[in-house]
Amino acid sequence: MSEVVISCRNLRKTFAQGGLTVPVLHDINIDISRGERVAILGSSGSGKSTLLHLLGGLDRASGGSVSILGHDVQTMGEASLGALRNQALGFVYQFHHLLAEFTALENVAMPLLIRGMKRDEANPIAARMLGLVGLAQRTAHLPAELSGGERQRVAVARALVTEPACVLADEPTGNLDRASAQALFRLIQDLNATLNTSFIIVTHDLELASQMQRQLHLVDGVLRKE
Ligand SMILES: Nc1ncnc2c1ncn2[C@@H]1O[C@H](COP(=O)(O)OP(=O)(O)O)[C@@H](O)[C@H]1O
Ligand SMILES: [Mg+2]
Repeated sequence: MSEVVISCRNLRKTFAQGGLTVPVLHDINIDISRGERVAILGSSGSGKSTLLHLLGGLDRASGGSVSILGHDVQTMGEASLGALRNQALGFVYQFHHLLAEFTALENVAMPLLIRGMKRDEANPIAARMLGLVGLAQRTAHLPAELSGGERQRVAVARALVTEPACVLADEPTGNLDRASAQALFRLIQDLNATLNTSFIIVTHDLELASQMQRQLHLVDGVLRKE
């Protein structure tokens, strides 16, 4: 059997809103295997981001369980959960969240420095990752000097630089034109094949999602099976 990197069982999430309890996710069950590429599809407000945050240990469930590399998220304290996230996961968002005053190389090296790695050791690793995403010639560029597609590639390099087991991406092509979006998805396929990193990608783009191995459809907080 293949290694499961992230799984959830009977996962539920409710939000308290103005004295009301609003259910957002109902009894979700998912297993993500090592090296698997999975798309999460659904209309706006269907609970995609909420699900991704729970699977990535960024938010706590209201019921059920989430397991990251076999660790039960529910029973972990914030410090050990933060360490597990840094060790096991990478995140990419719709807005790249690069630090404006730092170069592409410095942005990509950041997660390694946060781990306590020395700059001299981190920089060559970051440079290699920028090479893998096709930006070897852009290491000294600031985010403002890059195109939208290039910024997202830097964000992907930053997510991958720690060699995580799984990258979680929330509408990473939401602000890209068609060609850049397709290029980013091709890059994800290549990196998935090279590094065996799992990818969980939230999108509402059916065509891009069809390039993933599996598509999970969220409809009003319920996972609709294919
Ligand atoms: N922090 C929050 N507090 C209250 N309601 C929230 C919160 N986050 C999300 N929701 C609600 O949960 C539902 C799903 O949101 P979300 O997961 O962001 O959807 P999607 O990413 O699919 O567009 C929405 O109705 C939203 O209003
Ligand atoms: Mg969302």
